[in-house]
Amino acid sequence: MIIGAAGGVGTFAVQLAKAFGASVTGVCGAAKADLVRSLGADDVIDYTRHEIDRDGPRYDVVIDTAGNRPLSLLRRAMTPRGTLVLVGSGFGGGPLFGGYDRQLRAPLVSPFVSQRLRSLAAKERAEDFEELGRLIESGAVTPVIDRTYALSDAPDAIRHLAEGHAAGKTVITV
Ligand SMILES: NC(=O)c1ccc[n+]([C@@H]2O[C@H](COP(=O)([O-])OP(=O)(O)OC[C@H]3O[C@@H](n4cnc5c(N)ncnc54)[C@H](OP(=O)(O)O)[C@@H]3O)[C@@H](O)[C@H]2O)c1
Repeated sequence: MIIGAAGGVGTFAVQLAKAFGASVTGVCGAAKADLVRSLGADDVIDYTRHEIDRDGPRYDVVIDTAGNRPLSLLRRAMTPRGTLVLVGSGFGGGPLFGGYDRQLRAPLVSPFVSQRLRSLAAKERAEDFEELGRLIESGAVTPVIDRTYALSDAPDAIRHLAEGHAAGKTVITV
């Protein structure tokens, strides 16, 4: 399950998971369901109508990029030995650490439960980019471009991103 499946990270995550053979459920708002399906998602949960644990403990892997849901809720959607990867939270979170609250707690909770709870810090590795390039050339992955802005309109681009409802990547042309 990929939470935030329509975002800049999620649109890649859905396609990569499909390219590696996973069965994928994407979580997004109703307006983005068709986009997420078009990327290959087998199922879509419209989070404005259903919470992600609607079907009980079902998912082997949950990649969480949006919504800042509590760890307890995420764990209810996961199989007993499932893996949670926290990528980002969007806005909100605890008073001290904001959206990073869960990233700090997950590794502390993980040793005491059967599920694996992990935070992700993206690293740029040449071999990953080469593999990504191959997947894009083969058509297995297509970057989704939301909007394109001129450099002089960068503040508008940032404002658009900050609204938290992008559909794919926001591009600034230089
Ligand atoms: N750990 C790392 O190394 C790393 C790397 C890159 C990014 N990040 C972080 O990852 C997060 C996502 O980045 P992004 O570039 O993908 O953001 P983005 O492009 O702004 O996408 C956010 C997506 O979240 C969806 N969304 C908003 N509220 C939601 C909710 N309650 N439940 C489910 N989906 C919801 C929105 O879709 P709807 O319009 O349908 O709501 C939107 O498509 C950010 O916090 C970013 O800082 C972390």
